Amino acid sequence: MSDPLPFERPAAPAATTTAEPVLGPTGRPMPELPEPRPVTQRGHARVVAMCNQKGGVGKTTTTINLGAALAEYGRKVLLVDFDPQGSLSVGLGLNPHEMDLTVYNLLMERDVDVADVIVPTGVPGMDLLPSNIDLSAAEVQLVHEVAREQTLQRVLAPAIENYDVVLIDCQPSLGLLTVNALTASDGVIVPLECEYFALRGVALLKTTIDKVRERLNPKLEIDGVLGTMYDGRTLHGREVMERLVQAWGDKVFHTVIRRTVKFSDSTVAGEPITSYASSSTGAEAYRQLAREVLARCLDG
Ligand SMILES: Nc1ncnc2c1ncn2[C@@H]1O[C@H](COP(=O)(O)OP(=O)(O)OP(=O)(O)O)[C@@H](O)[C@H]1O
Ligand SMILES: [Mg+2]
Repeated sequence: MSDPLPFERPAAPAATTTAEPVLGPTGRPMPELPEPRPVTQRGHARVVAMCNQKGGVGKTTTTINLGAALAEYGRKVLLVDFDPQGSLSVGLGLNPHEMDLTVYNLLMERDVDVADVIVPTGVPGMDLLPSNIDLSAAEVQLVHEVAREQTLQRVLAPAIENYDVVLIDCQPSLGLLTVNALTASDGVIVPLECEYFALRGVALLKTTIDKVRERLNPKLEIDGVLGTMYDGRTLHGREVMERLVQAWGDKVFHTVIRRTVKFSDSTVAGEPITSYASSSTGAEAYRQLAREVLARCLDG
């Protein structure tokens, strides 16, 4: 049968409230995410740790790109590189051997102030506390400190009023540095790679978060679980997503980050994907995540 001419087509039924909801990639109805409201009141940042002890799941990629997208929406953002690998600092174009002061100095030296360590990034409105391999020594040295778990919280405190959001990029372990990050935070975002072993180890992460909440930081919340490196074309990808939603329910962000080589390309270029490939699907995904994070736990 030949296609009818356009003007012969019956009009599409008007959208009604009974229409089938559009399902997002997580298998749940996709909500309308509002355009973020303009910033009227500055300061008193929400501190959010990017945490998963599994390596290579997208913690650093999410810290850089969520931060850059929030800065595009007018938020003042501070990123904290809290991983001795220093990937966040390198991903923003810094040379690990040319850092004057790093988070290590901030943690260990009493006369170093947070303002001395903060450096601007190429993204307007986004600053960085950089790290390099020196930070690995802090993990050992902090053990002997008084109130060792509260060290990051204490040194960050003077900066909180100058920002809207602080994002802490954790290392892939649940050691003392990560406990410091969780103690300094209001919320945690857990990036999970959408592959078969993604849920292994998550119970231990949940237990660690619960212990920190009970013993050190009663305000700590899980802000959300983010599916990364998603491939919706494979049954496997969709099944893992389904299991994530079964395990974490509404904590799973509606936004998922698809697998694309653009992320490694932008790391090599030393800038976020939102500026390196501004109209790519990866950049759009992190803008959508920024709107979701704002609606869920920043503008609420
Ligand atoms: N959505 C994605 N699609 C494809 N590659 C990605 C994606 N997200 C991150 N990557 C790449 O995967 C690698 C690991 O990502 P990333 O460094 O963000 O993970 P991580 O959790 O911070 O790792 P680590 O635990 O070592 O700190 C990087 O090479 C990054 O460019
Ligand atoms: Mg990392």
